[in-house]
Amino acid sequence: MKKIVNGRKSSKILQGRIMTALFYEPSSRTFGSFISAMQRLGGGVIPLQGMTYSSVAKGETLEDTIRTFESYSDVIVIRHPEVGSAKRAALSSKIPIINAGDGVGEHPTQALLDLFTILSKFKKIGGLKIAFVGDLLNGRTVHSLSKLLVKMGRVEFFFVSPKNLRMPEEIKNQLKNIKITEIDKLDGIINKVNVIYVTRIQKERFSSLAAYEKVKNFYIVNKKLMEKAGKNIILMHPLPRVSEINPDVDDDPRAVYLTEQMRNGLYVRMALLAAVLGKI
Ligand code: CP
Repeated sequence: MKKIVNGRKSSKILQGRIMTALFYEPSSRTFGSFISAMQRLGGGVIPLQGMTYSSVAKGETLEDTIRTFESYSDVIVIRHPEVGSAKRAALSSKIPIINAGDGVGEHPTQALLDLFTILSKFKKIGGLKIAFVGDLLNGRTVHSLSKLLVKMGRVEFFFVSPKNLRMPEEIKNQLKNIKITEIDKLDGIINKVNVIYVTRIQKERFSSLAAYEKVKNFYIVNKKLMEKAGKNIILMHPLPRVSEINPDVDDDPRAVYLTEQMRNGLYVRMALLAAVLGKI
C-alpha cells in the first residue's frame, strides 16, 4: 500500500467496489483516510457525514439506514455516538461493517494504525513500556489500543489521568497478566517509557462545562517536559488535539502524530479495505 501511495501508482484492486462512509459523529482523519484509501485502490465512495441531509434527519433507524446502503455498496464504514452501534449495524447487514468509532466504546482501525506505527519504530511489542495519558475513560482509541497491544506481547502500561477519567474497569479486566500503574502525573514516569500516547480530554462527553473546565488543562506536553523523555521514544496522539500537546513539540523527531502516525492511517485502511473485500 505504501508503494501504491508513494509511487503515485494507480491501483485497480478495488475497482468496481463501493464503500459507504456513514459518519454520524464529526471526523477528519478517519473519514478522510477511508475515502482516500478506497479511491487510491480504484474503488468508489458514498460519503455521508453529519446526516443533516440524509433520511436520518427524518427519524430513520440505524437498521433501515444500514439496509439501504447495503443495497448500494460493498462495505460500510460507520462512526456513531452509541457504544455497540457498529455491532448493531453488523447484525442487520449482509455486507462487512467497519467500526470507525462507537461513542466512548472502541476505535479498532485507529488501534491497527497505532500498532503499525509502534511496530515500525520498535519492531516488536514485547518489553515495551507505554504511557496512555489524558481522558482514558472516554477515549475510545486507548480502549482499543491497550487491548490490541496485550495480544501482541508482554507490555507494561502506565495509565496517566485525572482520577475521574481513569481507564474503565471493564477494559482493565481484559488486560490480563501485565503490569499496570495508574497515576495522575506524567512527569515522574516520562523517562521510563518507550511510547507516550496522549489523548484529548473529550469535552463532548462531559455532563457539564464546569466539570470539563476543571480537567481540560490537566496535561500539557511541551518542549520542556519532552527534555525529560528518552531519546529513542515516540510521542503519539490520535488527534484532534486541543491543548494537551503544545505545537512547540511538533518538530521534535520523536513526535509522530502529524507524520508517520497519520500517514499510516491511510496505508492501514487501504490494507483493511482490500482484506475485507477479499482482494489480499
Ligand atoms: N483519530 C481520529 O479518529 O480522528 P478523527 O476524529 O478526525 O477521525
